[in-house]
Amino acid sequence: MNPAIVPLFQPFALRSLALANRIVMAPMTRGFSPNGVPGEDVAAYYLRRADCGLIITEGVGVDHPAALGGSGVDGDNAPHMYGKAALEGWRRVVDAVHAAGGVIMPQLWHQGVMREMGTGPNPDVESVRPSGIWGPLDRTAMVSPAYLESVAQKPGRAMTDEEVVDVIEGFARSARWAMEVGFDGIAIHGAHGYMVDDFLWAGTNRRTDRWGGDHRGRTAFAAELVRAVRREIGAEPVINFRFSQWKQQDVRARLAETPQQLEEVLGPIADAGVDIFDGSQRYFDKPEFEGSPLNLAGWAKKLTGKASQTVGGVGLNSGVYDSRATGGSAATMENVEKVAARLERGEFDLVGVGRAIMHDPRWVRRVREGEDLLPFDESSRLVLT
Ligand SMILES: Cc1cc2nc3c(=O)[nH]c(=O)nc-3n(C[C@H](O)[C@H](O)[C@H](O)COP(=O)(O)O)c2cc1C
Repeated sequence: MNPAIVPLFQPFALRSLALANRIVMAPMTRGFSPNGVPGEDVAAYYLRRADCGLIITEGVGVDHPAALGGSGVDGDNAPHMYGKAALEGWRRVVDAVHAAGGVIMPQLWHQGVMREMGTGPNPDVESVRPSGIWGPLDRTAMVSPAYLESVAQKPGRAMTDEEVVDVIEGFARSARWAMEVGFDGIAIHGAHGYMVDDFLWAGTNRRTDRWGGDHRGRTAFAAELVRAVRREIGAEPVINFRFSQWKQQDVRARLAETPQQLEEVLGPIADAGVDIFDGSQRYFDKPEFEGSPLNLAGWAKKLTGKASQTVGGVGLNSGVYDSRATGGSAATMENVEKVAARLERGEFDLVGVGRAIMHDPRWVRRVREGEDLLPFDESSRLVLT
């Protein structure tokens, strides 16, 4: 094996989690689960990737009527984690991955302010927004002009206290059901401008009650949610929490301008029971704060003492939004070696890989065997191969 990539193929153990290598299939919404139910094709898709140390599934709607919408935010035919048919579908997925020696967690998801009213499994249900707003409308957003017009500009109302608690309970129930069908832990989508992030970010949370306030005050929802999930699943299973500075509402948004602010955000969430922080960046090699080369996952680990996971452009030379603009991306082995070197130095513990693994189920094997990596083609978003 190329010595530069050896760190990626070291095992990793934490609580009940035992991974054969450090490569994590990053969560990617695919939209191949009609009526929210993952079928045999979804099971086969994840099975083909079982040699990743860990698979984190696509975002899966939690048990709340406004969790998922449709078209505008990639939610069409997204799966959910409630109801007999969907849970049976997930059991087939989990059994297939386990039979091949793989490890898999679902990414529990609530779209929050991003959900388009009138779409998704419950089109008549009102969307829920912490402060009624979608976010500032004058930023560089990663949504279409039509979506901006139909979703973002429509004012809503702030959630009541009871509605906030309902969403938290929906996450907790879905987490319990996920563990019952055999998943190996729980990943929580706390990033990219969706529900959990809507509470974390000042651009969407203007509340002055127990769910709002300063950096620390805005973490109350995420912390309570993690506590509720932990209560349901017990002490052993691992909780992975994804967060990001950027939002779809504002690519340049920042939850934290300084390490101290980031500590205020992540500290209470860590104390609530997170084991792994997944710091979502578009380019893993971008330093997060001036004066240090550490990336977002590096800072999360340093500030909380928890394990962390990086992501962003591994194996490709353009990031997730840049490759959309050009129709694809060339492959590169160079940054795979770079991310492995940083892993070895202990900056983070796990390495998320998104598009490269979506496009090529043989990606892990190619890296291990030193085979040429395939360029990424955006058309692979449309198929489940
Ligand atoms: C088609 C597609 C769907 C995605 N869906 C999700 C999702 O459901 N949840 C999430 O947290 N991130 C999602 N992402 C972001 C990826 O998890 C990952 O962070 C991003 O693609 C950067 O990694 P990469 O450069 O290796 O692709 C998605 C990305 C793509 C390309």
